[in-house]
Amino acid sequence: MIDLTKLAEPGSAEEELLRRIDPGKLPRHIAVIMDGNGRWAKSRNLLRVEGHRAGIASVREIVETCARLEIQVVTLYAFSVENWKRPRYEVATLMMLLKEYIRREIGTLQENNIRFVPIGRLEGLDASVQRELAWAQEQTAQNTGLLFQIALNYGGRAEIVDTVNRINVLLREKGLDDFRVDEEFFSSHLYTANTPDPDLLIRTSGELRISNFLLWQIAYAEIHVTKTLWPDFRRRHLYEAILDFQGRERRYGGIDENDAEMFVEAGEMPLEE
Ligand code: IPE
Ligand code: IPE
Ligand code: MG
Repeated sequence: MIDLTKLAEPGSAEEELLRRIDPGKLPRHIAVIMDGNGRWAKSRNLLRVEGHRAGIASVREIVETCARLEIQVVTLYAFSVENWKRPRYEVATLMMLLKEYIRREIGTLQENNIRFVPIGRLEGLDASVQRELAWAQEQTAQNTGLLFQIALNYGGRAEIVDTVNRINVLLREKGLDDFRVDEEFFSSHLYTANTPDPDLLIRTSGELRISNFLLWQIAYAEIHVTKTLWPDFRRRHLYEAILDFQGRERRYGGIDENDAEMFVEAGEMPLEE
């Protein structure tokens, strides 16, 4: 198991947080709704796009930290199918920043053994953006460390509909008209096929909503909402989110084992009279 405290300066506040994290109980998959860039900019009398620019430093730090923590998957929500409603200038700047990010960070992704995979309706993005994404995916395809998924032109409902349609085509092609789809089969045809569901979902900027993110996959995710705006979100905030996660009792609809024993010992079987 990794020695987490090695990731921080001795005596620092980060080291103190890392000391409290159980390395044996890390989330396998962390999903993040990166929100609050506009408000961050507004509070500084800057243009909204400056908030997006500042948010890139947070992306860099969080992805790198997830790799160091040996997390399996991190999924960042960068652009939703609904975000096209924003002014053209803002959308264009976001796309430009994305291309810039890829060009600048590809080296760091390689050094950290990170596999980069975009998810969403990628065919709806600008051709130049698609090319850049495909290039980065190809360049990092052999990496075996952290899987970094970036959700672009992404919608949870769109993903479910796309999956239904994809499965339909597949079954028709194979002549399997009466094949019964189950949850496992369905999951393995989502954009996120072959990845564990998120254990921890983080949303920055305090908003208590899901905004159409990973609707199927978050069925049993633990949700951590922080008031911190995305451009201010740093390593220590990630550690705090993980600590919050580790303090939760995950039940998946069941009950605590100790409670179950008490129930049986009392001989209460109401349906077996
Ligand atoms: C999140 O920040 C980034 C994207 C949705 C692309 P926002 O731009 O939504 O910032 P707020 O919510 O307006 O503060
Ligand atoms: C969610 O943030 C989408 C992304 C982070 C890419 P929004 O700012 O678009 O969500 P709403 O509009 O507040 O629900
Ligand atoms: Mg927002």
